[in-house]
Amino acid sequence: MEIRIEKNQQPKVKPDPSSLGFGQLFTDHMFVMDYEEGKGWFDPRIVPYGSVPLEPSVMVLHYGQATFEGLKAYKTADGHVQLFRPYSNMERMNVSNDRLCIPRLDVDFAVEAIKKLVEIDQDWIPAAEGTSLYIRPFVFACDPYLGVRPSHKYYFMIIMSPVGAYYPEGIDPVKIYVEEEYVRAVKGGMGFTKTPGNYAASIKAQVVAHEKGYTQVLWLDGVEKKYVEEVGTMNVFFKIGGVVVTPALEGSILAGITRDSTIKLLKHWGIPVEERRLSIQEVYDAHAQGKLEEAFGTGTAAVISPIGELNFAGRVISINDGKIGPVSAKIYDTITGIQYGTVEDIFGWTVKVK
Ligand code: COI
Repeated sequence: MEIRIEKNQQPKVKPDPSSLGFGQLFTDHMFVMDYEEGKGWFDPRIVPYGSVPLEPSVMVLHYGQATFEGLKAYKTADGHVQLFRPYSNMERMNVSNDRLCIPRLDVDFAVEAIKKLVEIDQDWIPAAEGTSLYIRPFVFACDPYLGVRPSHKYYFMIIMSPVGAYYPEGIDPVKIYVEEEYVRAVKGGMGFTKTPGNYAASIKAQVVAHEKGYTQVLWLDGVEKKYVEEVGTMNVFFKIGGVVVTPALEGSILAGITRDSTIKLLKHWGIPVEERRLSIQEVYDAHAQGKLEEAFGTGTAAVISPIGELNFAGRVISINDGKIGPVSAKIYDTITGIQYGTVEDIFGWTVKVK
């Protein structure tokens, strides 16, 4: 399929790269493609960024049938533009789409669409350290219908935003509140997908944690409220007695791409890593025994975010004296180094746009 291109005749002024937050500004263009039952995906186009006409009855507004992804484009020191593991994102989007009865996308075509859009808006990729162009592909149900069933019409869109750090702390450790009242997901639900409902379900706990002075919540499993699952917008890792432990993918947590990259790097370095069930009690016991060496979150938006403090049922513990640990720092330096082209990409994770 040929992508039709309509250039924006009124490009915006680019922001100051030193003052970028996360997800507030959008580039000059966006990608749009339609789906209709019986016709499939059609009319891929890159058009000026702007509003989309939607009837108030469109299904996504009522039943939340939608999925999304998040990935980034980077400007390398030698002037190239590259993406980090875009095929993994679009494959994961199809996993989410299957769960939500949304038609699959052709992964190669979707990555081509991302590359084309990034190429057109490449001047929006900020060059300052720690900045990048965040890419948000998303699909949503746009059938004007109020019955509950899979939509017969969808939009696949891609928008992009120049970003700095996701958390105001940047690479400084964050304080995390262990959530005991609310749960995010259960096995058999949608916890493994990237769908808006998972994030809607998380907002209440996040608001309460913010009020208590914490950046994010650490979710426990939805049944026993005993086992660690994930942190807000990230997967989570704990280094206990020399072994890095992260919750196994058992259906209720997201299969993070930074999580997968972290596991592959640890294995490559010969650092023991385990994907298994991990109770919050084990984390606290390890701390009491002086064995809890590091904790950190991983995610596309946040990259690596060290955890400096946990609060579980009023018991506050400090991890590595509230400082970033050596393994967290090495993973951060290596992943960002590969992304910005200063560390050799031995895994073949990067995809050149130009
Ligand atoms: C990402 O890390 O890309 C995410 O999707 C998190 C987002 C909800 C901010």
